[in-house]
Amino acid sequence: MNEEQRLQGQQVKDTTPSDKKSEKDYSKYFQSVYVAPSLKDAKKRGKEEIKYFKDFNIPEEYMGMGNGKKFYIRTYGCQMNEHDTEVMAGIFMALGYEPSETTEDSDVILLNTCAIRENAENKVFGEIGHLKSLKQERPDLLVGVCGCMSQEESVVNRILSKHQHVDMIFGTHNIHRLPQILKEAYMSKAMVVEVWSKEGDVIENLPKVRRGNIKAWVNIMYGCDKFCTYCIVPYTRGKERSRRPDEIIQEVRMLAAHGYQEITLLGQNVNAYGKDFDDINYGLGDLMDELRKIDIPRIRFTTSHPRDFDDHLIEVLANKGNLVEHIHLPVQSGSTDVLKIMARKYTREQFLELVRKIKAAIPDVALTTDIIVGYPNETEEQFEETLSLYREVGFEAAYTFIYSPREGTPAAKMNDNVPMEVKKERLQRLNTVVNEMSAEALKKYKDRVVEVLVEGESKNNPDVLAGYTRRSKLVNFKAPKTAIGKIVKVKITDVKTWSLNGEMIEELETAEVK
Ligand code: SAH
Ligand code: SF4
Ligand code: F3S
Repeated sequence: MNEEQRLQGQQVKDTTPSDKKSEKDYSKYFQSVYVAPSLKDAKKRGKEEIKYFKDFNIPEEYMGMGNGKKFYIRTYGCQMNEHDTEVMAGIFMALGYEPSETTEDSDVILLNTCAIRENAENKVFGEIGHLKSLKQERPDLLVGVCGCMSQEESVVNRILSKHQHVDMIFGTHNIHRLPQILKEAYMSKAMVVEVWSKEGDVIENLPKVRRGNIKAWVNIMYGCDKFCTYCIVPYTRGKERSRRPDEIIQEVRMLAAHGYQEITLLGQNVNAYGKDFDDINYGLGDLMDELRKIDIPRIRFTTSHPRDFDDHLIEVLANKGNLVEHIHLPVQSGSTDVLKIMARKYTREQFLELVRKIKAAIPDVALTTDIIVGYPNETEEQFEETLSLYREVGFEAAYTFIYSPREGTPAAKMNDNVPMEVKKERLQRLNTVVNEMSAEALKKYKDRVVEVLVEGESKNNPDVLAGYTRRSKLVNFKAPKTAIGKIVKVKITDVKTWSLNGEMIEELETAEVK
């Protein structure tokens, strides 16, 4: 069966066996569409052509299958997963399902999972366990596990053997097959498993139900080919593959026309955008140069990899306009030796040189980052290099993590002589610097006027509105609810460690706006 037929939604009876004969045979637990995910297969790059499908559509026979039923999706992990949830919600709604606020009154529950660190996976297994009693009370309920964890063989095997109340497992390459998978699950008593360890396709015209109407995510590429030695993503998300520029531009134009105020372009490594095109020489800089002409107030992108961040992109970003002066630029470590073992493919010096170039072109840029501490055998000196790099760059915020071994990645096989207490202590020391630098960056805002995209009521106080500046600073201020969804000027009165308080200003033409 070819891909085209799969997309047409024909009956799938693909029983490709796992190529690992030694593996335990789980065939008694599932029926029909079982294709074992394999990290080994996921690593084979370039053996399979990327296929483009321009016209996703749901075959007539599935229409109305959700009438009178409700769905609930719990999302873990990164923006990529959040956006996949929006696509799956779009498919559910097209099938006639309605969204539900709680698991209790849902007919289908999906867990869209994340595999990035062990604790992310533990949370999901906890939740799968909780759902067992609900399933026992209501046997008609469908429980599904999708997202990055379902791309791991060990996870699939654990669910097959220990969590038989799960009805469906499907992978990140299979979300467009939700109608077929649901139908199979309704018809079958056994678990439906459909996970492809392939490189993935690019499928256009997927329905989406976006959360909110102020900010929107737009995928520009899928997958990752970087294979940093600690990271599971290249295995769970497939090969790097870019959407065509015209499709992206059209989507952003449509969002602008619908009144969205901010777009975040998504990819695991957006700086590799376009590298897979063999007919055009076109990169992220070229794309941003076209997007900046679209009438939408703000455009961001995430996540950048320092290695592929080129001069043309810096030049384009320096034009500002709707391209905001905030770049999230994960460094992971400040030590060249650790970076080498991580296979990040840049040195401390190269990273600092990139930062120098970015700051020369965009002097008021806000840089934020991701850092892993306690990498196998990381020495005290190497860790201190991370602290010193953090200060030297002047990062304004960071996501910081203790290294978590992921099965199947090269780092998981490394011997590690750093005790957990040392790792925890390093994380704390790093976080102290991160908090201090954040507070320092925010201090500069006192009495200044900033532009805030108002997103809604503040989490802690419904009388207060909250939103973000171009440089991604959270601002809380009192204003009428009519300001929600608009970009307003706010004068900063008070500075906290992670946020700013202010007062909305109606008009202030001469003030410096940052
Ligand atoms: N594509 C992005 C990162 C995606 S994962 C990039 O390359 O920057 C988000 C962050 O999780 C990473 O930047 C890294 O800091 C962290 N991370 C990834 N794998 C990890 C692991 N095995 N243990 C701890 N942190 C990890
Ligand atoms: Fe993971 Fe590295 Fe790819 Fe980021 S660039 S997703 S850290 S492999
Ligand atoms: Fe997690 Fe997958 Fe994103 S592993 S961080 S949800 S790409």
